[in-house]
Parts: sequence; C-alpha cells; structure tokens
Amino acid sequence: MFRRLNLRKCRLMIDVSRRWHQTSLTTDLIENMDKKATWDRFYTETSSHQKTDKFKNFEWFFGFDSVQDFILPLLKHPAELDPLVHVLDMGCGTSAMGPCIYRQSPVPVVVTCADISPVAVELMQEHTKRTQVKPQNQLSRLGFLELDCTQLREHFGPQSLDLIVDKGTTDALLRSRDGQAKAGQILRQCLGVLRGAGSLVQFSDEDPDARILWLERETLSTGEVTANVGFQEVGVVRGVCYYCYQITPHNAAQ
Ligand SMILES: C[S@@+](CC[C@H](N)C(=O)[O-])C[C@H]1O[C@@H](n2cnc3c(N)ncnc32)[C@H](O)[C@@H]1O
Repeated sequence: MFRRLNLRKCRLMIDVSRRWHQTSLTTDLIENMDKKATWDRFYTETSSHQKTDKFKNFEWFFGFDSVQDFILPLLKHPAELDPLVHVLDMGCGTSAMGPCIYRQSPVPVVVTCADISPVAVELMQEHTKRTQVKPQNQLSRLGFLELDCTQLREHFGPQSLDLIVDKGTTDALLRSRDGQAKAGQILRQCLGVLRGAGSLVQFSDEDPDARILWLERETLSTGEVTANVGFQEVGVVRGVCYYCYQITPHNAAQ
C-alpha cells in the first residue's frame, strides 16, 4: 500500500513539475505538503504573472465541472431557520471550486474558501475582485480566508457548516512526511463544525480499501461524534481513478 501511494504521489508531482518546470519546488512538495511555507512558495513561484488578467486557476486533480454532479445535490436548505447553505472549500488554493459553487448554486449559499497560504488567498481575492463573479441566487455570498484548518472550530462555531469540500487537501497532508496527525485533526474538526445533515466530501485518488479504513478509525476516535462513511467513483483521469468520499456525522446523543 505504502509503495502504491508513493508511486502515485511521484506521478502527480512529475505532472506538476512538467507543468511548472520547477524541480526543487517539486522536491519540496513531495516531502512537505503539510507546511505553509511550501504552499506559499508553490503559489508564489507558479503565479508570478498572475496578479493580472492572465490569472489562471490551478486545479489539483480536476475542476468543478468534473464533480458538480456530486456537489450540487448536497446544497440543500438546512432544516433550521437559517435559509443559507454554508459551504467551506477547505484548502482552496487557487482552485475555482468555491467561486463555481457560488455562481452555480440555485439555492442561496455562503461559500468560504479557506487556505493556510496567504499567497493563494490574496491571488483569489484579487482575481474575484477583477472578474466580479455573479451568483445565480442574489442572496449568495463568497469570501476568502487565510486559515489553518487544524483550527476550524476556533473560526466556525459548532454545527455551523452544511458542506465541506476537500479536493486534495487531506491527500496532501496524508502524503507528507509529518502530515498524518494534522490530517486526522482536520477530519475531527470538520465533524465538529458540520450541522445535522451536513457532509464532508473528499476528492481523492486514494483507494477505498485504504481511505475508508483511515476514515473509520479517525472518526471513531472522536468519542462524541460518529459518522457514516461512503464513497463513489468519480472517474479516470490520465489513467488514475478518483473517488468521492462522503462523511456525514451523527451525534452519539441523537
Ligand atoms: C493539493 S492542494 C489542493 C488545492 C485545491 N483544493 C485544488 O483542488 O486545487 C492542497 C491545499 O491545501 C492547503 N493546505 C495545506 N495545509 C493546510 C491547512 N492546515 N489548512 C488549510 N489549508 C491547508 C495548501 O495551501 C494547498 O492550497
């Protein structure tokens, strides 16, 4: 299993390095994808001309179009009085995922795109200001936030989010030399900030036999909150199979 994951990680990094021609950056990414400094460097070096009209979103794995059929049905009105659906793109980088959800959701959404890298957050803020994305629902809102998602609970209250989207963020932590504990911590924080029927969706290339075991072990270790864990295949991109893992907490007291 360990060998297979490392081969996949190398393939992804070779892909990134081919696109960006940055071999020392690639080496940093292979080891340190859990570190803020690595991502600041990544977004700085790969976006030197991007504070202009030439800005291009960088998508890990694939973009919103490939996964909209998984995401849009999850944007449901919460049962409580709040008419807004609260969505977090966790570790957004410079992906267009959050802005696309904001633009395409028919129900009113509050989309927060959060990342540990202030460089990525600033690029996204400036790009959004320049392009002035218009939402389908006039009540919808979009915001960007510099945040270490191991501290989610300090920013979002308990049971305050309806959907958390994680495209490549947990993968990045799990595959870093020192990131395993942080990945578990982030998962437990997500369970604490999700509302009743809310879900965390992780898009990943990790095989279900490994990811489901990890998810079940980490969610069980919370004690207070347990969760239903399921997955669906997203499809094959450049020979790699991708999955959507859906984690829905239910309070032990419920
Ligand atoms: C593999 S990239 C995925 C980026 C984006 N989701 C996408 O699909 O293109 C992982 C992202 O997670 C961010 N990240 C890493 N650790 C984080 C943490 N503790 N809190 C918030 N973001 C983090 C990185 O800055 C990076 O943007």
